[in-house]
This record gives sequence, structure tokens and C-alpha cells, in this order.
Amino acid sequence: KSILVINGPNLNLLGTREPAIYGYDTLDDLENKVKTVAGSLEVAVQFFQSNHEGAIIDRIHVAQKEKIEAIIINPAALTHTSVGLRDALNGVSIPFIEVHIANVHSREEFRHHSYLSDKAVSVICGMGIFGYEAALMYAAQHIGACRP
Ligand code: DQA
Repeated sequence: KSILVINGPNLNLLGTREPAIYGYDTLDDLENKVKTVAGSLEVAVQFFQSNHEGAIIDRIHVAQKEKIEAIIINPAALTHTSVGLRDALNGVSIPFIEVHIANVHSREEFRHHSYLSDKAVSVICGMGIFGYEAALMYAAQHIGACRP
């Protein structure tokens, strides 16, 4: 069983980007932590990061062909802007978990609305990088990929 982890715009800058908000872990650190969790579950994990809305939408379409069973997505700024991303996720009918590193609800008003949350299986925010590990554990359970 395969799970895809997607990171949206500017998350390639993790580690140096506003560390007081997003912490000092890099995208590589994040992916390694998620891989470690995947190793303890019966799941294969793939990663994708892009700063381009269309590239993320294309990747979601490919995920359907690859029979990816769940998507963990931090849509970053696209959370608050993208009907196209919402339509892509709904269009492929792959269950997804929305993750934000920071607590979007304690930040600016424009970050309080998400175009995805009402369609997500779960929404995690404010747990830092651990949110991705928690999302993977839950996603594995959701698709029945946990060892007994
Ligand atoms: C974010 C929150 C978004 O509002 C912001 O645009 C990001 C990152 C987070 O992980 O906390 O780029 O998704």
C-alpha cells in the first residue's frame, strides 16, 4: 500500500524560512522522519514538493494511476487560494489528510479558511513536523495498512 506526501509552495525552504513559525527542520529532515515511521508500518511512502499549483495537480492525477491509497498534503499557501487543488483531490477520490506545521488559526485571518478541510479525512495543524508523522500513522490505519 502506498501513501503520497505532498508539500506545496515554499516548503522547500523549511529550516531557513521563518524558523520561529516553521522550526529548524529541513524538508529532508521531515521526509526522513516520515520514512522512519513508514518503516514501522506496512506502507510505502513517496514524496513530492512543488512551488507550482499545476505541477501539484498533475502529480495528484498521476497518483490515481499509481493506485496511491492516501495522500498527506500540506498545501501551504494554496490552502487558502486554490479551487483547482480542491477539485483535483476530489476528482481522483483519494482520501487525504491536510497538514499544517503551524497553527493556522492563531495566525492571520486569511489563513483561517481552507479550500480543502471540509473534504479532508483529517486536518492537523500546530504540531510542527510531527504532524506529518501523526498523519502517516493515521493514514496507514485508515487504509488498513497497520500490522496487527
Ligand atoms: C502552512 C500554513 C500556510 O498558511 C502557509 O501559507 C504555509 C505553511 C503551514 O504548514 O503551517 O506556507 O501550510
